[in-house]
Amino acid sequence: MAIGLHQPILDWYAANARDLPWRRPEASPWAILVSEIMLQQTPVVRVLPIWEEWMARWPTPEALAAEPPGEAVRHWGRLGYPRRALNLHACARAITADHGGEVPSAYEELRRLPGIGDYTAAAVASFAFGRSHAVLDTNVRRVLARAVRGEEYPPTATTAAERRLAESLIPAVDAPRWAVAVMELGALVCTARGPRCADCPVAARCAWRLAGRPAYEGPERRGQTYAGTDRQCRGRLLAVLRDAHGPVPKAALDAVWDDPVQRERALDGLVADGLAEPLPGGTYRLPA
Ligand code: ADE
Repeated sequence: MAIGLHQPILDWYAANARDLPWRRPEASPWAILVSEIMLQQTPVVRVLPIWEEWMARWPTPEALAAEPPGEAVRHWGRLGYPRRALNLHACARAITADHGGEVPSAYEELRRLPGIGDYTAAAVASFAFGRSHAVLDTNVRRVLARAVRGEEYPPTATTAAERRLAESLIPAVDAPRWAVAVMELGALVCTARGPRCADCPVAARCAWRLAGRPAYEGPERRGQTYAGTDRQCRGRLLAVLRDAHGPVPKAALDAVWDDPVQRERALDGLVADGLAEPLPGGTYRLPA
């Protein structure tokens, strides 16, 4: 099964890989960890400037750990899903306190860091430390769903069958390069909408293409609507806190969103998540 995917995909990667700074040999494990958290659900072009800024400001976990968590949130900018900034800050403190300031290399230790799930632990162990793991991000899962299983999209949540398949494909040599090559193929060619099969190195043996590219039949896939959502409202409120360098009066928050019910719910959510801190006197600020 799936024999013959490796060499064409590795050759394609050698010719087509983007030159991304976290893939360069000089990228530190910390730089790679930060990139992997930022890249979750966020396109490369949006991540690049923020990642550069973080690396210049906080080149080591200790540097970030020395700051209050609110600074991580402030410099997260508009990347979205800002709990990731708090998680990275908590990671920096855990790495500093428990690992002598060095990002741990073993999957199990990485997995125990705050907010680090299976994907991120496998990606960092692979890309920063050369370990062999199945790196199951959404791009990899889509490529394998199509090329091997003959389905347009992977299941909503990662299944044991997907994991077994990915593990069965890990090559004996240079597993990290295979992982990033499949990921890149998914990002650039085997895209979610409008895959470019004409440019695909494994089109001739892709089960989905050979079956005539049958349409997806599973449960409805989550859309990416943003306008009018609580997520957008939270983003507006957080932007006010980020741009202020001190406590913000409630009126300044009230000014950026009309619907008071949604606004209060979003603000409560930010406080509950530790992204905003209410102060006596009714002002708010980023977490200190
Ligand atoms: N290179 C290594 N990890 C990556 C990721 N998650 N997204 C894009 N490029 C990557």
